[in-house]
Amino acid sequence: MNNILVAGGKGQLGSELRDLAPNHPNYNFFFTDRSQLDITNHVVVDAFVSENKIDTIINCTAYTAVDKAETEPELADAINHLAVANIAQIAKDKNIKLIHISTDYVFDGTNHKPYVETDVPNPQSVYGQTKLDGELALQKINPINSIIIRTSWVYSKYGNNFVKTMLRLAETKDEISVVEDQIGCPTNAADLAKSILSVLPQINNKSVEIFHYSNEGQCSWHDFAVAIYEIKGMSIKVNAIESSQYPTPAKRPTYSLLNKMKIKDHYSLEIPPWRDTLKKVLKLNLFKK
Ligand SMILES: NC(=O)c1ccc[n+]([C@@H]2O[C@H](COP(=O)([O-])OP(=O)(O)OC[C@H]3O[C@@H](n4cnc5c(N)ncnc54)[C@H](OP(=O)(O)O)[C@@H]3O)[C@@H](O)[C@H]2O)c1
Repeated sequence: MNNILVAGGKGQLGSELRDLAPNHPNYNFFFTDRSQLDITNHVVVDAFVSENKIDTIINCTAYTAVDKAETEPELADAINHLAVANIAQIAKDKNIKLIHISTDYVFDGTNHKPYVETDVPNPQSVYGQTKLDGELALQKINPINSIIIRTSWVYSKYGNNFVKTMLRLAETKDEISVVEDQIGCPTNAADLAKSILSVLPQINNKSVEIFHYSNEGQCSWHDFAVAIYEIKGMSIKVNAIESSQYPTPAKRPTYSLLNKMKIKDHYSLEIPPWRDTLKKVLKLNLFKK
């Protein structure tokens, strides 16, 4: 039996993994939230892993409030960096697999072609910096059979995300403005969860490997909003604005498209285009605002 700890089991990605668990009867999943397993508590995590004979940790925890992180850098660092170092040490000491999730926000956005794993990170925000520090700590400790998956613009029927915000706004507004000068690609957390479970049995590496994952294609946040309303048949005017017209505490990369070639080749993955998967999930009417 493979005992898999999904830490952050109530977040977007953790919840999508939970939905897939019944399709994998060969795995014995442990989904934990902050109240059951505070990822920043090394002693508690170490004991949980030992007591439950965990073979694999999928770390879905994160401090993901990008703007709030600017005023809570220590908390963001504790979760996105120091806790990752702890988990990496536990994985190394106990010789277990580790899948850690990171972000496109480790990049500064000055690229003009999709970021590959070897491109040099240069985060522009506290969130991006703490996520990068987590990556670096994991790479330094270097447990075998560990991978980092950087992803972008995650949405799900669970949690809070851009899709839900757009649906909520459409209930009360006839017109909204959305930035058009930040280019990237949405990631349906359900697709990422499925890919993680497909990658898991194939992981076999001596040094930490980084992979990039999002849905296929590219868009701006404005394109993303328009697509949501088109699919749902909602009539709302979506004005395209510049980032300078929508100032936020944290600076976002203007371009953060991820090149997915490495993960697709390495693990024989097929990744759906963002618009197709968005249409599929929105048609199911599972998004509660
Ligand atoms: N969301 C995005 O757009 C996005 C984009 C790029 C990359 N990513 C990365 O993708 C991964 C998954 O993101 P997500 O969107 O699923 O995140 P999410 O929905 O915010 O979930 C993160 C989970 O981590 C939990 N958590 C935070 N601190 C914890 C602690 N000390 N101990 C235990 N659990 C803790 C949170 O619990 P509480 O609710 O109790 O805080 C939450 O359930 C993260 O690594 C994130 O950095 C996300």
